[in-house]
Amino acid sequence: MIVLGIETSCDETGIAVYAGERGLLAHRLHSQVATHADYGGVVPELASRDHVRRVLPLVSDCLAASGLGTGAIDGVAYTRGPGLAGALLVGRSVAEGLGWALDCPVLGVHHMEAHLLAPMLEAAPPALPFLALLVSGGHTLLVEVAELGRYRLLGESLDDAAGEAFDKTAKLLGLPYPGGPQLEALARDGEPGRFHFPRPMTDRPGLDFSFSGLKTAVVSAVREADRDEATRAAIARAFQDAVVETFAIKVRRALEQTGVGHLVVAGGVGANQALRSRLREVAGSCGALMACPRLEFCTDNGAMIAYAGYRRLRAGERDAGACDIRPRWPLTELQAPAPAA
Ligand code: KG4
Ligand code: ZN
Repeated sequence: MIVLGIETSCDETGIAVYAGERGLLAHRLHSQVATHADYGGVVPELASRDHVRRVLPLVSDCLAASGLGTGAIDGVAYTRGPGLAGALLVGRSVAEGLGWALDCPVLGVHHMEAHLLAPMLEAAPPALPFLALLVSGGHTLLVEVAELGRYRLLGESLDDAAGEAFDKTAKLLGLPYPGGPQLEALARDGEPGRFHFPRPMTDRPGLDFSFSGLKTAVVSAVREADRDEATRAAIARAFQDAVVETFAIKVRRALEQTGVGHLVVAGGVGANQALRSRLREVAGSCGALMACPRLEFCTDNGAMIAYAGYRRLRAGERDAGACDIRPRWPLTELQAPAPAA
């Protein structure tokens, strides 16, 4: 089965072709960073308009790169949610149009399930059951994955998502959008230990997170500091250390609690090298293996949508007629595909 995947949930237009037997054949990405840079964050209306402009040329380009014609496509998968409503509508409309034109099934997939499954595109995929830390701009989730569609939520952020905390802190430090990667780069030069920020909610039992207090701690540090480059770098370093250590503590707890042998770290913040290397140590000390998507598939992309769509389309799922997008869509509402009749 050959599936075309379309991602348009936020500020990246991602297209990919996944073939059951041969794996990922091609993928293409257009990032809207330049479009939103002047505004310091994603402007939903501009995002939708840019998806409209980019999506069809990217589909043609991706199909050409895969060496396939449109006739080879057996199914189309798109991001149904969660995400920005207008942006999601673009992907859905194009997917439905292609489904009609090619007379093939169409399926709306869950963006976070796609992030969760992204390591399956790598040479050493995680074995089920596994623990997943999903850390993106909109979500911070610790999930026990028994199988496709069987997800037990162990913990989540009660306020800001990890990526949001990175982005807001980056802004406070005067860094351009998108903040996460910029903050990581600045933190690399930061003197460790010059500032110390709290590890929120680690002093009590449980697996939930809270990052808004951490941001407030950074606000006071920025206000008090003389804000030369070295000070900003030291603040960035201390913020990143606090986030990384908070995740290390909670992930260790979750691995011990579940006893699973694999840890998946996925979503945009999963591209952070300091986080990856610390969690690899934690997994190792718990006797677990860690699996991550390649860096370009941590952040939003079409490949993960094509793969998640492939898994569910192959199991017989498809949209029944016109399907509403789901800008808010809890991961735990998903179910395992029904066994084939
Ligand atoms: O998964 P993603 O591309 O989009 C969403 O589904 O939200 O995640 C984007 C988030 C942004 O908040 C971005 O700043 C953050 O991931 N991010 C990072 C890094 N790369 C992206 N945060 C920390 N370190 C990074 N290297
Ligand atoms: Zn995402």
